[in-house]
Amino acid sequence: MRIPFTMYASILTLVALATKAASALPAPTEQTAGVPLPAHTIFQLDGTLPNSWFENLAVRRNGDLLVTMLMPNASIYSISEPLSGSPKASITNIDGANGLLGIAEISPDVFIVAGGQLGSNGEPVLGSMGLWEVDFRKEEPTTRLVAKIPEAGIFNGLTTISSCSSAVLVADTGISRVWRVDTMTGEYETAAEVPEMLPLANITTALGVNGVKVRGGYLYFDNTDRASIFRLPIDKRGMAVKGAETELLTKLTHGNMIDDFLIDEEGRFWVATNSGNTVEVADGDSPSVVVVGSPSELTVAGDTALALGRTKADKNIVYVVTSGALAHPVNGTLTEPAKVVAIDRTGF
Ligand SMILES: *[C@@H]1O[C@H](CO)[C@@H](O)[C@H](O)[C@H]1NC(C)=O
Ligand SMILES: *[C@@H]1O[C@H](CO)[C@@H](O)[C@H](O)[C@H]1NC(C)=O
Ligand SMILES: *[C@@H]1O[C@H](CO)[C@@H](O)[C@H](O)[C@H]1NC(C)=O
Repeated sequence: MRIPFTMYASILTLVALATKAASALPAPTEQTAGVPLPAHTIFQLDGTLPNSWFENLAVRRNGDLLVTMLMPNASIYSISEPLSGSPKASITNIDGANGLLGIAEISPDVFIVAGGQLGSNGEPVLGSMGLWEVDFRKEEPTTRLVAKIPEAGIFNGLTTISSCSSAVLVADTGISRVWRVDTMTGEYETAAEVPEMLPLANITTALGVNGVKVRGGYLYFDNTDRASIFRLPIDKRGMAVKGAETELLTKLTHGNMIDDFLIDEEGRFWVATNSGNTVEVADGDSPSVVVVGSPSELTVAGDTALALGRTKADKNIVYVVTSGALAHPVNGTLTEPAKVVAIDRTGF
């Protein structure tokens, strides 16, 4: 199968586009009570990793954060006691990849992570995408290759389907589809491929489907270029229902481009805007609200993904991971090492 590599947005050419997108952002003007929400950095890489990019995260039932690194290494940072003021980090590396993307918990304390090889220019190496299992049930985590998917372009967000399924769904931003991968057998197939997953045709570095989540019989996904969130019905196996409509749920008010998202208990979408340097909350047709950050701030600079705390102590915390504005420096020049920010959403 011939893969349209011209479609790929290499991580580094993303730089140029995203810089443009950021400077084109209108300044948020409306005032919403309670915002900006309190936010503080709980963990940041040091100056030895200036060009570092955190891409996604999952939360363990014990409260530890599992943060995936896209650059420079295929590392999972386990961050324990994230709100303690002095969280401890340990690293699990994935052999056979040099960058990691989406991550989700397939069974208690066992996680599936997407990854692959990125070339020196940041472009994905053809045929290098794969999924790995990382088992945190023992003191020393173990890793296992689940499947290599040579036909894939570049993986992105990843979600489980249900508690009784061994399969995951993984977004492929390179070829604009969502794959279903059975993590027991390694078998894979296309789960969904709809026009709403395509990038915009008029953008040179095109990025379509990005984050994916499953809720109540639907696959929710966002599209970077369209700054929009959609859903489509899926069956029990996680396959798109044939002929079913894809619904547009919301389009972000401020950002031109968006990265991954989460869905809260009330069905609102919290979105990492990456080049926008903000977290924005969207709720149907209402204008979305910037709750943290601004284009000219480092607070959540280059934010890539978010997750809710899972323990009693942090159930009102939204954790955000960042790429340090690597692709689109704040004010044109400012970048920083990748970090994790805790947003307190109490009362919001
Ligand atoms: C991460 O990558 C850098 C640059 O390639 C390398 O020097 C460093 O040893 C790696 N660190 C880890 C923890 O793998
Ligand atoms: C690209 O196309 C979209 C959708 O058709 C449109 O809204 C947008 O303004 C276009 N952007 C440019 C830069 O032409
Ligand atoms: C970016 O520039 C604006 C305008 O000069 C300034 O207010 C802001 O503090 C700058 N941001 C950073 C992180 O220095």
